[in-house]
Amino acid sequence: MDRVVSGQTDPQERDQETALRPKSFKEFVGQEKVVANISVMVESAKIRQSAMDHVLLSGPPGLGKTSLAMLIADALGSEMHLVSGPAIEKKGDLAAVLTNLKPRDVLFIDEIHRMHIAVEEILYSAMEDFRLDILIGQGASARTMQIDLLPFTLIGATTRSGLLSNPLRDRFMGHLSFDYYPAETLAKIIETNAKKLNMDLHPDSKFEIARRARGTPRIANRILRRVRDYVLVAKKQKAELIDVQQALQLMDIDELGLDSMDRKILNVMKKFYSGGPVGIEALSATLGEDKQTIEEVYEPYLLKQGLILRTPRGRVLSEEANRHIESR
Ligand SMILES: Nc1ncnc2c1ncn2[C@@H]1O[C@H](COP(=O)(O)OP(=O)(O)OP(=O)(O)O)[C@@H](O)[C@H]1O
Ligand SMILES: [Mg+2]
Repeated sequence: MDRVVSGQTDPQERDQETALRPKSFKEFVGQEKVVANISVMVESAKIRQSAMDHVLLSGPPGLGKTSLAMLIADALGSEMHLVSGPAIEKKGDLAAVLTNLKPRDVLFIDEIHRMHIAVEEILYSAMEDFRLDILIGQGASARTMQIDLLPFTLIGATTRSGLLSNPLRDRFMGHLSFDYYPAETLAKIIETNAKKLNMDLHPDSKFEIARRARGTPRIANRILRRVRDYVLVAKKQKAELIDVQQALQLMDIDELGLDSMDRKILNVMKKFYSGGPVGIEALSATLGEDKQTIEEVYEPYLLKQGLILRTPRGRVLSEEANRHIESR
């Protein structure tokens, strides 16, 4: 049985993901508020014939932050440069990226909350004044060198906007947060992607996937591809509800759309901590899972569904979570 890591991607999946990425704003379904705000920012930049204001996209993994950033760059007719925050180790690396930008290019920094603070600091003047302040030399002979940059747009993406430092956060004009998708919206995305994958999907199948995808397009796509495989191997023409149910069972995704790790979290809370309250450190140690992953990937959905509640003394299991564990 394979394990579904909610939301996160491995390199192979990233390739497949590219094929299903929305190619236009029309294909980007849902997140209406975010899209409405972005549309105004894009149009305004075009009228002003200058770089779009910097914008921060936040929300759980797999909800479309990277996809939207690509569409923004496209709509602006600009090139997008993609870097991952924690991967930039030295100030000089970021300085090199910044000085290579062409006018009105888009710089997308993923996981911006994990950037090293020393690297982050050179973004402040870059974002505010399109200028790099670089300290050269040490001690008494140290001096600051300034390099002018061409106007650019920074799009930051984060799964934890709360961890951003204030100076960085304040330099973004737009703060847009993504929320989990309702099942009806996911159903539309699934319908579009089933066509891209040449699948004949029964409407009931579509809604079943939508209902069990944790409100996340990336997971809906992942289930959809597994259903396609399942149907192909079974030499069937159409993906019926039963095929979806069987594929979900193989993926170990339950009635509520929870995967094995989600359930493990609930079970550990019940078995080892009598339903809580339990602190994140203790939970992470017992689960043998990184604290950040629990907080960024798993917990937001469990909180959103009211399965876990947060209290000043720690996390507790809700009544519904107790019932869910017992029913299995
Ligand atoms: N609004 C949407 N409409 C259609 N498809 C979407 C939408 N949002 C996301 N997707 C699909 O989900 C996949 C994952 O989205 P994306 O990579 O943009 O998420 P993300 O928020 O950047 O995730 P992460 O935080 O892990 O980087 C995309 O490849 C795309 O196929
Ligand atoms: Mg992304």
